[in-house]
Amino acid sequence: MRHFIDINNFKKKEIDEIISLAKKIKKYPKKYSSSCNDKTLGLIFEKQSLRTRLSFNVGMQKLGGSVLELQSKDIGLDNKREKAEDVLNVLSQYIDCVMIRNNNHKQIVNLSKENILPIINGLTEYSHPCQILGDFLTLQEHLKNIKNAKIAWIGDYNNVLRSLIHLQNIYNFKLNLIIPKEIFKNYKKEFQQYKNENLNHYFDPILGTKNSNCIMTDVWVSMGEKNKNKKKYFKNYTVNKKIISNATDNVIFMHCLPAKRGQEVTSEVLDGKNSAVLMQAKNRMYIQQAILIYVLKK
Ligand code: CP
Ligand code: NVA
Repeated sequence: MRHFIDINNFKKKEIDEIISLAKKIKKYPKKYSSSCNDKTLGLIFEKQSLRTRLSFNVGMQKLGGSVLELQSKDIGLDNKREKAEDVLNVLSQYIDCVMIRNNNHKQIVNLSKENILPIINGLTEYSHPCQILGDFLTLQEHLKNIKNAKIAWIGDYNNVLRSLIHLQNIYNFKLNLIIPKEIFKNYKKEFQQYKNENLNHYFDPILGTKNSNCIMTDVWVSMGEKNKNKKKYFKNYTVNKKIISNATDNVIFMHCLPAKRGQEVTSEVLDGKNSAVLMQAKNRMYIQQAILIYVLKK
């Protein structure tokens, strides 16, 4: 059984296949309009979502499949009424795969190990693999040679970054992390596991973003995080015009959204000519479609 939990569970060849399928679906959508006929996708959101909800929902319908949104509490996935595995066994009698967004990465890993129903990680506190594959598609559309790309991530050490690091470990593009010392110290050990000659950490935003082809950021405080106090550490880490002009001329600015304007990015950059954020949102759909076809393949 195929699941989609984390990018580092995959070989380069498999990721290449998913990206290549997404590109084909984007180019020839009609060819794929019955790829998921008679299949039903369950969506479970324990946190808010606009892009992931819409891209899975509309994407699955465009593949000829149907979608059911389920509430964890209503169906009892919270282990209170019956065991989550028992819920999954029953779900598998009606539907073909399930996407889960929660604050409990361990739970979706454990559920996937049961091999009852294909499970897709729609964001957890640990990672956001669907986002990063969508972003990889956007990057490939903008940059001629991904191998020589120089990407700078500026801001928090979070779920989106973790998936980006997983991707970097497979494709070996240059990735600079520009993260304040007060935040980075908590992740130093984790970072060491992934460290390689093309993956580096900087404290200084100007030094770390110099000559980048792509600057990425995300909110300073993710959904479900308790430590709202940490915002104070990011004072000099706002992506503004100065940081953009320090990069290459045609640098693209990326953000998974939702954005907090004036915090991690200025409106001038978010709405400016270098911004790829709406293309990122659009590309989410083609990637979700490719992931759905991938996990539903027998
Ligand atoms: N980028 C992203 O996952 O957006 P949503 O939280 O709105 O789904
Ligand atoms: N890091 C953000 C991503 C939202 C799509 C969060 O988890 O809130």
